[in-house]
Amino acid sequence: MGIELKNPIIIGASNLVLDIEMAKKLEDAGAAAIVYKSLFEEQLHLEAAELEEELHEYDERNAEMTSLFPEVKHSGPRAHLIALKKLKDSVSIPVIASLNCLYDVSWVDYAKNIEQTGVDALELNFYSTISDVDKSSQQVEDARIEILKKVKAAVKIPVSVKLSPFYTNMMNVVYRMDKNGADSFVLFNRLFQPEIDTEEEELKVPYNLSHKGDNRLALRFAGLLSGNIDASICSNTGIMDGDDLITMLLAGADTVQVVSTVYKNGVIQVTRMLEELSTWMKKKGYDKIDDFRGKLAKKNVSDPHAYKRAQYVDYLMKSKEYLKKYPVN
Ligand SMILES: Cc1cc2nc3c(=O)[nH]c(=O)nc-3n(C[C@H](O)[C@H](O)[C@H](O)COP(=O)(O)O)c2cc1C
Repeated sequence: MGIELKNPIIIGASNLVLDIEMAKKLEDAGAAAIVYKSLFEEQLHLEAAELEEELHEYDERNAEMTSLFPEVKHSGPRAHLIALKKLKDSVSIPVIASLNCLYDVSWVDYAKNIEQTGVDALELNFYSTISDVDKSSQQVEDARIEILKKVKAAVKIPVSVKLSPFYTNMMNVVYRMDKNGADSFVLFNRLFQPEIDTEEEELKVPYNLSHKGDNRLALRFAGLLSGNIDASICSNTGIMDGDDLITMLLAGADTVQVVSTVYKNGVIQVTRMLEELSTWMKKKGYDKIDDFRGKLAKKNVSDPHAYKRAQYVDYLMKSKEYLKKYPVN
């Protein structure tokens, strides 16, 4: 997306870097860039009343907010903008802001405000659970492309788009967004899905950390898209160790974003992943990542179905082999 990174590991949007000291530790561990937690307009609306009540208690902070962002009326976004600016001032690696809005006008307004904080890029987090039964897929996709176009017209910093995998034709959505100016794609957001506690008989939304093996969908789309779009490809979800990182680079990703593995294994995991990458490159005789990036992308492999074949077709074709490997009693 036009930003030079020292290596391909980006810390994905999460609560990890709300603490500046943690952000610095991640930078020291080798992270090449950081995405700050999304500015969620929905959350701001929920917090609005509470924050208004508390305004007088934070005179100092509000004075700072008013002088820094005089045109932003609500204290919620101001607090987020100040935190972003502080993060940007505290680390030397690129900082990427993330935005998730409810209304069209807010996407553009907040994007402009975010740009003023001096961040290096903006990620549009198109996470939402559409529950309106009258809305067609086309309408949802068109609306998101309109938002992308408006944000691109409003800011000068690069704009990436973070998508969930739940589109009927993901390739079409990505191609259309690519044509409409997306500088990078983050594929994919991991959605928080509800759980039901049968004992308490209540709904819960647990922290859904990824596991080893959860990277397959991201891998498939990195392989399918590599070399076919202008935007950069940043793979996300289930990239847990150095091997997963190498896998994504071989499929054609430019970068990866990691969150769960840092929560599970600590900041040191970033260093380990970079060491594993470097050891593997030495073993294979590669001097730089570009020597092998996309080597196993769809356009570079001889089996044209490698990334497309539905798994069950594979099972049908090799049913005897599977039965031998997984005998059913
Ligand atoms: C605690 C937590 C907070 C998150 N907050 C955000 C967020 O604010 N914005 C966003 O786009 N993604 C958010 N995510 C999703 C991550 O950025 C990432 O897409 C997801 O965890 C998949 O990557 P992973 O497998 O490396 O964890 C969050 C994830 C976690 C675990």
